[in-house]
Amino acid sequence: MTTEGQAPLAPPARKRLFIRTWGCQMNVYDSARMADVLAPLGYAPAEAPEGADMVILNTCHIREKASEKLFSELGRLRELKKEKASSGEKLVLAVAGCVAQAEGAEITARAPWVDIVLGPQTYHKLPEMVARASRAAGAVIETDFPVEDKFDHLPEVAAPQGVTAFLTVQEGCDKFCSFCVVPYTRGAEYSRPAAAVLAEARRLVAAGAREIALLGQNVNAYHGEGPDGRAWGLGRLLREMADIPGLLRLRYTTSHPRDMDDDLIAAHAELPMLMPFLHLPVQSGSDRVLQAMNRGHGVAEFRRVVEKLRAARPDLALSSDFIVGHPGETAADFAATMALVREVEFPLAYSFKYSPRPGTPAAGAPHQVPEAEKDARLQALQALLREQQAGFNRSRVGMTMQVLISGPGRHPGQAAGRSPWLQPVHLPGDAAALLGREVPVTILAAHPNSLSGLLAASEGGHNAQPREEPAPA
Ligand code: 5AD
Ligand code: SF4
Repeated sequence: MTTEGQAPLAPPARKRLFIRTWGCQMNVYDSARMADVLAPLGYAPAEAPEGADMVILNTCHIREKASEKLFSELGRLRELKKEKASSGEKLVLAVAGCVAQAEGAEITARAPWVDIVLGPQTYHKLPEMVARASRAAGAVIETDFPVEDKFDHLPEVAAPQGVTAFLTVQEGCDKFCSFCVVPYTRGAEYSRPAAAVLAEARRLVAAGAREIALLGQNVNAYHGEGPDGRAWGLGRLLREMADIPGLLRLRYTTSHPRDMDDDLIAAHAELPMLMPFLHLPVQSGSDRVLQAMNRGHGVAEFRRVVEKLRAARPDLALSSDFIVGHPGETAADFAATMALVREVEFPLAYSFKYSPRPGTPAAGAPHQVPEAEKDARLQALQALLREQQAGFNRSRVGMTMQVLISGPGRHPGQAAGRSPWLQPVHLPGDAAALLGREVPVTILAAHPNSLSGLLAASEGGHNAQPREEPAPA
């Protein structure tokens, strides 16, 4: 990393930046990093596009009708840009993320009022692009996949992210599932060197983070270079992370069943601070469909991985992603998905109707499933998943569990945090005093998506985490 050339001069003029983020945690993280690189140029956050000098739309291509949403938003922003221009103000408009990556040329052709189009690999160039855009007549496009590490160019001092911080360790994917755009939009699989990850983690903890979630499209395929010159797997990286003073919790997402190796599974047994909750998308419970999806594993392998994980960490709860109506999926295939869900049980899961993404193999495959059939399957699956989620939440009632307090609750006098299983928990308490601490909470009630309870009597005893700031690492 380098900060050369960023010596502070006179404070830059105050400008406002509004970022709209669609999609996954990776995009949320990328948006925060874009705000970081623009901060030295004087950009502070704006509440809404109306009060902004620059608007970035950070797009996601994975499921929704992404480009239609983008173009309708761009239509609204065109009007805003005109209004501002008539009162002599400027609005710089940028489109970032996976839609920018996939459809850069189309964006500038259809929406010539866009100033900057940039792909996920080029965020470190934003300041330069903003400068160029204010000079250039046409749009500035930057969507190449560079060989160098985009993370190396981002500034060292990240804005504090709060009690839970996200840290990208891996990007891209080489797996080419039949339905997925990620390998095309995010490029080849790449892992950050372990030393850079650990340094960023220490900075996040120094800035107040008590929980770090490692992010990557294929996070458990992580194989970053270690300080010893050898490739480190995710298990090794997590063990090193666990030694960072002041850090209380670790998570990682999103994993692929194929990359769930024994060393990583062993880390779940060894590290109590690695939370007992894992997002492990399986997509389907039918071997035929898994094969058509090019997932590289069958149902039996998934079952084996789940068994090993549960043996390592008996309180582990699983979350997953499912797609219904992949081309060729029959009623019997769908029944196999329902059976797998009943067998494994998923306290949290995301389920989607298959939607063809242009350029992916499944989009052109025969035997597309009719929309009405997809709807019916999705409803049946979601009803079952909702039942499982509610059942899991109910099963926590009466338990005393550690809750990491992340801020105030919705009502005055309430604090809020997360259970080890990622459930939001509300309790009466002084949020400011409890912020960033893991406290024992007795759960009194379960709601569809959250829990509520009371600080347990042992609070202040040996279970509660000390509040001192961690020593600088
Ligand atoms: N259609 C429906 N769902 C999809 N996903 C990815 N691509 C598609 C698609 N074309 C879902 C998968 C993935 C999650 C992030 O989004 O379930 O795991
Ligand atoms: Fe997409 Fe499959 Fe890669 Fe996941 S593993 S990002 S679903 S191609």
